[in-house]
Amino acid sequence: MSAGVHPAWLGSAVLGDDVVLTRDPRCGLGAEAYTIARSGGVTTVVAEDEAGLMYGSFHALRLQDDLEAQTHRPFVARRMMQHWDNVFVHPVMGQVERGYSGGSLFWEDGALTDDPDRVGDYARLLASVGINSVSLNNVNVHAGEARLLTDRIGEVAVLAARFRQYHIRVYLSVSFAAPMLVGGLDTADPADERVQAWWATATQRVYAAIPDFGGYIVKADSEGQPGPFAYGRTHAEGANLLAAALAPFGGEVYWRAFVYNHRQDWRDRTTDRARAAYDHFTPLDGEFAPNVILQVKHGPIDFQPREPVSPVLLSMPATRLAVEFQATQEYTGQQRHVCYLPPMWSAVLSTVADRVDAVVTVSNAGDDRYWTNHPLAQANLYAAGRLAWDPTLDPTALLDEWIARTFPPAAAGTVHELMRDSWAVYERYTSPLGVGFMVHPGDHYGPDVDGYEYSRWGTYHFADRDGVGVDRTTATGTGYTAQYPEPLASQYESRATCPDELLLFFHHVPYTHVLHSGVTVIQHIYDTHFAGAEAVSEMVSRWSDLPPSAVGEDLHARVSDRLREQHRSALEWRDQINTYFYRKSGIPDTKARRIY
Ligand code: GCU
Repeated sequence: MSAGVHPAWLGSAVLGDDVVLTRDPRCGLGAEAYTIARSGGVTTVVAEDEAGLMYGSFHALRLQDDLEAQTHRPFVARRMMQHWDNVFVHPVMGQVERGYSGGSLFWEDGALTDDPDRVGDYARLLASVGINSVSLNNVNVHAGEARLLTDRIGEVAVLAARFRQYHIRVYLSVSFAAPMLVGGLDTADPADERVQAWWATATQRVYAAIPDFGGYIVKADSEGQPGPFAYGRTHAEGANLLAAALAPFGGEVYWRAFVYNHRQDWRDRTTDRARAAYDHFTPLDGEFAPNVILQVKHGPIDFQPREPVSPVLLSMPATRLAVEFQATQEYTGQQRHVCYLPPMWSAVLSTVADRVDAVVTVSNAGDDRYWTNHPLAQANLYAAGRLAWDPTLDPTALLDEWIARTFPPAAAGTVHELMRDSWAVYERYTSPLGVGFMVHPGDHYGPDVDGYEYSRWGTYHFADRDGVGVDRTTATGTGYTAQYPEPLASQYESRATCPDELLLFFHHVPYTHVLHSGVTVIQHIYDTHFAGAEAVSEMVSRWSDLPPSAVGEDLHARVSDRLREQHRSALEWRDQINTYFYRKSGIPDTKARRIY
């Protein structure tokens, strides 16, 4: 709060004496649930437990009109924000990996930050939208961070106390090689009894310090992180090792399914990164311990602006699953571009909600005074929590809910217009028809059409003079489409039924291929890139028409500044993508616009 603007959307609202809270252990509502009603100027909230009363209180704070009694209960019991915060500033990734909101809320230059109010404010923000779990550190666990599990557990306990006030449990990302990194053993083999004993003792110490500790997040055999493959063990054996240590305390392991070959040969067109998670994990269905949750990114590649839903989420009935979203806008404008993501998340949840036990989101918050760098990016944090509580909520209604709690009525229309379709706009000027990764390698910001084309990361578009796209069909391609259950497998397999927005994700087609929309692929690329950049110009003018006094000078200036950068960047995307595909294809724009 010292930095000024911190508390968001609730301000410092407190309940008035027009709100009556009743905790009734026999009301039968169940954990975290509440009933709320308002009449005659009095709001009543009834809940079975403290958490339910708290969620009901937050609801009471946003209630304005009379309300017949309604019961609310969370769709899933596990609603987690994950942080990719480092303790020590990483030479490449910085204090927060893929963090675009300043420093970490928890650590600074190797030490715990000394701002308990800020962590408390953050906990309150998260709780107010229904989040009940937080993992504190980066999934890439470096040597210094590995010690959070052992001799630095006291710092975790300090943070856990802040979060506990708001019924949020804390989790840690741990290194699979912790027994070697911090335990002095010469192996991390799950079958080795010394390793099992080490995890049991380490976990016992964690619970001695934090009795309500949630559990571990593990990124294993992924992008250089250690894992069970080194010992010829499966990922089920790896996960179950940690699960056994946590089970006596009721803790859980979130084991990530983000496992793929990151040393691929670009010449080899048979290896398909999209296939990797399914190929690795579906044979293990049913082998994970009951307190293991397999954490699956929502798409098969890596948080691109457009991907199909991961087939892993549709194919492991005997495994507990978490779907993972990314609020930090790594590939969607890095909190310099407006990109309201809930329409994407909501579409995924409409397919997978009844199959998941947990909804996990990579946080976009940092020590920035607006929390999220771009003040409008707060809406992603807000809606991530609300959708995890109730995936049937309408993303546009959620946007308006956030706006109403953040801006005065005079600004509401402008903010709504700026944000509602901003994901679609972003997709238009960046990634046509399901092509991803045309970004600058390393920092992933801005266009670089061939940036990853000849790299080892397995993310290619295969554009040549005749066409573009990845053939993932079963008939002639990598066979990825067969990982889907019907009717999706057939729908994606055929060009005739594959949705336009995913065509190039599943098929390699000529530039002259005619889309369902009636235009050719090349013309679609030109049209959407011109339209996307144009839409950003309109956003810039819309915002400059809003008097700064309507939102406060500082916030107005911050958003103006970010919009200017978004506009510059959108023009760069437009011109690089259009020029690239014009030069490849030699096919002119039917509307004869300027291409270089
Ligand atoms: C992406 C991101 C990495 C991150 C990884 C993950 O690849 O670029 O920084 O570590 O996802 O989710 O583990």
